[in-house]
Amino acid sequence: MKQLRVGLIGYGFMGRTHSNAFTQVKNFFDLEYQPVLKAICARDEKNAKAFAKKWGYESIETDWRKLISRDDIDVIDIAAPNNVHAEICIAAAKAGKMILCEKPLAMNGPQAEKIVAAVAKAKVPNMVWYNYRRVPAVTLAKQLIDEGRLGKIFHYRAKFLQDWTISADLPQGGAGLWRLDAKVAGSGVTGDLLAHCIDTALWLNGNIDTVTATTETFVKQRKHTLTGKMEKVTIDDASLFLARFSNGSLATFESTRYARGHKALYTFEINGENGSIFWDLHDLHRLQVFDYKDESKIRGWKSVHITDGDHPYMKNWWVPGLQIGYAETFVHQVADFIQGLSSGKMASPTFKDGLATDYVTDAVLKSAKTKRWEKVKKVK
Ligand SMILES: NC(=O)c1ccc[n+]([C@@H]2O[C@H](COP(=O)([O-])OP(=O)(O)OC[C@H]3O[C@@H](n4cnc5c(N)ncnc54)[C@H](O)[C@@H]3O)[C@@H](O)[C@H]2O)c1
Repeated sequence: MKQLRVGLIGYGFMGRTHSNAFTQVKNFFDLEYQPVLKAICARDEKNAKAFAKKWGYESIETDWRKLISRDDIDVIDIAAPNNVHAEICIAAAKAGKMILCEKPLAMNGPQAEKIVAAVAKAKVPNMVWYNYRRVPAVTLAKQLIDEGRLGKIFHYRAKFLQDWTISADLPQGGAGLWRLDAKVAGSGVTGDLLAHCIDTALWLNGNIDTVTATTETFVKQRKHTLTGKMEKVTIDDASLFLARFSNGSLATFESTRYARGHKALYTFEINGENGSIFWDLHDLHRLQVFDYKDESKIRGWKSVHITDGDHPYMKNWWVPGLQIGYAETFVHQVADFIQGLSSGKMASPTFKDGLATDYVTDAVLKSAKTKRWEKVKKVK
């Protein structure tokens, strides 16, 4: 088996999901390449060493530039905060490395354009970790839509709700709290949570033409972990927008970190002429399906347990009826990336797809300021 030598940057939440996926994938998928955990890069040497020992990385680096310059690394995997994605991606492309980058691809569209130009010039395989595309139930939703089972789509409705920033005592900035610092995160829930909803929506329902949005920052000042001072909060705590898709359908998107009681409630519903589908991250192995073509006396919403051998990805796992979870979506992503290397057809979402989502989040944030409908830039 050929080797795919991985250099990972960042050992936080995503560093762990990615490392798990690189380790697991060969056990469940028959692939031409096998990931090899070559090096973990993080600024703190002691922590990097501890992570390398735990997850089985052969070596460590404390400067991502050194990692990129190494000849024994094939793919650079970026699991660090959003403000470093662009610089690392562009340098990695110049060095001829394949790149896997966490979402959002960049802090904004113009920055993402530079990344897309760099990988196009270097002709290196690339992918953004929008992992929800790889939930088997979500992939099945894509198949049902592509088969035309829903008919003409009228409505798309998505939300992503959390409640972890309600306390005004929660500081902003630094490890674990960089998401509250716009200089590091780019934006608040728009680029963090809504980006997931938008990526799924563009995949399932096509391009968004225009949006109108409103955002709110409920806690205006928070202590900054790095300066120790009270500083203005510049992220959006909540973001809601209406959208018009190119296929004529209308949509609502909502995201907040102030929905008391919700930890990661990502749901979407799609209503078409012949049917509807609904999915809920808290029940991720089910797809709710309504088919208007069913015989009327037994017609109704079906809760389909997505665990059978003919469901996407499921024949690679256990036996019908036994479910998988969140971690496996990253395993699927690695499997698809490797299959893309073998077939020569890059797996989605590519950096171009990541740029498309950044264009939508740019338009949402702009509309929240202008209080007008804004056009979404199209990827060329
Ligand atoms: N796909 C998903 O579902 C998902 C979920 C969470 C986060 N993310 C994305 O993943 C990325 C990381 O998020 P996280 O939750 O893992 O964050 P985290 O805070 O848990 O981890 C970030 C890691 O990056 C390291 N880091 C920061 N700057 C660095 C630098 N200059 N060089 C090397 N290492 C550096 C930190 O030390 C830490 O190990 C973000 O872009 C985030 O938006 C995606």
